[in-house]
Formats: sequence, C-alpha cells, structure tokens
Amino acid sequence: MKVLVTGGAGFVGSHTVEALQRQGDEVLVVDDLSSGDFGWVPDELVVRADVRSPQAARAVEDFRPDAMVLLAAQMSVKVSMRDPLLDADVNVVGLVAMLEAGLRGGCGRFAFASSGGTIYGDVPAAQQPVTEDHPHAPRSFYGITKSVAVSYLETYARERGVETVALALGNVYGPRQNPWGEAGVVAIFAERAVQGLTCTVNGDGLSTRDYVHVDDVADAFARATRRGTGLVNVGTGIGTSVLEIHDHVVRAAGRPDLAPVLGPPLPGEVRAVALDPSRAASELGWRPTVTVADGVPGVVDWVGGRVRAAVPGVR
Ligand SMILES: NC(=O)c1ccc[n+]([C@@H]2O[C@H](COP(=O)([O-])OP(=O)(O)OC[C@H]3O[C@@H](n4cnc5c(N)ncnc54)[C@H](O)[C@@H]3O)[C@@H](O)[C@H]2O)c1
Repeated sequence: MKVLVTGGAGFVGSHTVEALQRQGDEVLVVDDLSSGDFGWVPDELVVRADVRSPQAARAVEDFRPDAMVLLAAQMSVKVSMRDPLLDADVNVVGLVAMLEAGLRGGCGRFAFASSGGTIYGDVPAAQQPVTEDHPHAPRSFYGITKSVAVSYLETYARERGVETVALALGNVYGPRQNPWGEAGVVAIFAERAVQGLTCTVNGDGLSTRDYVHVDDVADAFARATRRGTGLVNVGTGIGTSVLEIHDHVVRAAGRPDLAPVLGPPLPGEVRAVALDPSRAASELGWRPTVTVADGVPGVVDWVGGRVRAAVPGVR
C-alpha cells in the first residue's frame, strides 16, 4: 500500500514510518522539518514542505496515496496559549489542506493524531479511564484544534465518502523524544537526571497522565491505515503521576537520591487523564504492550547517549 505521512520526520512520525515499512508499505513523508532535521527518516523519503503550502498539496496529489497518516502539527500546549492563531493555522487549516489534497490524489483513508490528554478536559475521577463518548471540554487552544479536527474527519467521512479514524493519543514517550523541547516529561527528567541535576515538577506533581510507549503508538497508526473508524483512544487506561515518572527516571538513571523541586503549575493543563483503550481493541485489534516501568529505562538510555555525546564530562 502507498502511505503518505505528514509530520513523518518527527518523534511519533519516524517510528510510524518504520512500522509502515515493516508491514511492506511504500512510504512518503511531507514535513517542513520545523521541529528539526534529526535524520531519522532517509532524505529521499521526505518532501520538505509546510502542510499549508501548494508544494505539500502537489506532493500528495503526485504520490496518490491509498492512505494518509496526519501527524504534522504545532504540538505544544504552551505555544498554543501564547499564539492561538498559529496553532489554529497549522492544526486546522493545515489539516484541511491535506485532507483536500488527499481527496484530489484519490486517497480513500485518513488516520489522524488527536490528543486524549487534552480534548476531554478535566474528567472527574469516577469517570476515568475516560471513554471516547465523553464530551469534549478542552482547556487549551491546542486541545480545541485537536477536538475540532475529530469533527472534520467525521464530516469528511460522512460527506465525502472516505474512511477516517482519529487516534486520541495519551502522552507518548520513548526514544527520539526531544529532551531539549518543552514537551515530554520523561525525556526532560532523563536529560537532567543523567547529568546528576535535579528536576523541576510543575505544580504539586500529582497530576496524572496516560503514558503510552511510542512503539505501541506507531503500531496503532500502522493498523489504522487498514482499519478502524471514528475516535479511538490509544492509551493504557492507567494514570501515572509526574512524581511517579520522576521516581522511575531517577532510578533508571542510577540517581534515586535526586529529589524533585516543585515549581508553579502550567496554564491550560488538565489534572488527570487515563484513556480507556477498549475501543482500540475492537477497532484496530490493538492493545498496549509496554508498561511505564518497562519503557522508561529505554528513554533514559537513549537520552543518556545523546547527553554524553553533547556534554563534556558526563559519564
Ligand atoms: N507526543 C505526544 O505525546 C502526543 C500526544 C498527543 C498527540 N500528539 C500528536 O502527534 C503528532 C506527532 O507528534 P510528535 O510528538 O511526533 O511531535 P513532533 O514535533 O516530533 O512531530 C511533528 C512533526 O510535524 C512537523 N511539522 C510541524 N508543523 C508542520 C507544518 N506546518 N508542515 C509540515 N510539517 C510540520 C514537524 O517538523 C515534526 O516533524 C502531532 O500531531 C501531535 O499533536 C502527540
């Protein structure tokens, strides 16, 4: 099958490209490399273009994909709170531009990366883990774009006769996660712990997220190019607090003596998230396979390697 992946040069994208290749797909990536050119995907597979540009649309039309995986996004809650116009432009206008280009190029199936951590908003403990039928109540502009995109996909499916599925991802973690960015607490903590530095926890550290390993997420997208429809949670059903993540990271880094430092809470953040993955089992035949305890050491190893290469004196 021919599969075009927007944002395929990024963290989730590059793992997804590899999962697609493992199932024998011919893959093309459209990515403006705005998050950086990390070399995770061979140059010859990448068309460097902004999803809002005519070049990106032409690349889609020329490739004539059977399916598209739509990952390109402004993916920072913090940036969205500072610049909602940019966030909406990339995440909504850019998405619709790619859907339209896909239709012109004969694409019959679209799989999109929504965000289970932001679209449902603050869900009472009694209703966790949250199911896909829960009303959307995003607290950030990023969450709004990731919610409205779900409606776009459902409307394209109904009105244009294509197949669409939106995967509501938990907090994705794993190797290649950027420890120098603002997102991805596992990698950020790992980057400091391997250098023997203390980590700052925003708020009281008791906020919980559903941490899902990137290998599992890539597998979900590979499946979603073949099957599944509507909104589908891709998480573990388990909420893990920031303090628990800190504990896993400092242990894996061999520095259990490092105590966290509490800082101010971030605006637009929700309190607790755990995503019920039952629908993913029926729609995609998917189940999470990597626990946080098993997955965190791999991130610490990977980040440690990067830090040792970049920072003199770190062993
Ligand atoms: N990482 C997570 O925890 C998480 C959770 C929920 C949803 N998501 C969603 O999954 C997708 C992938 O996230 P990621 O963690 O791999 O982030 P990432 O920043 O590593 O990947 C995004 C990719 O999109 C590209 N991109 C950004 N703007 C673009 C534009 N205008 N035109 C073309 N390419 C553009 C970037 O260069 C990057 O390669 C995003 O849509 C994100 O919102 C991620």
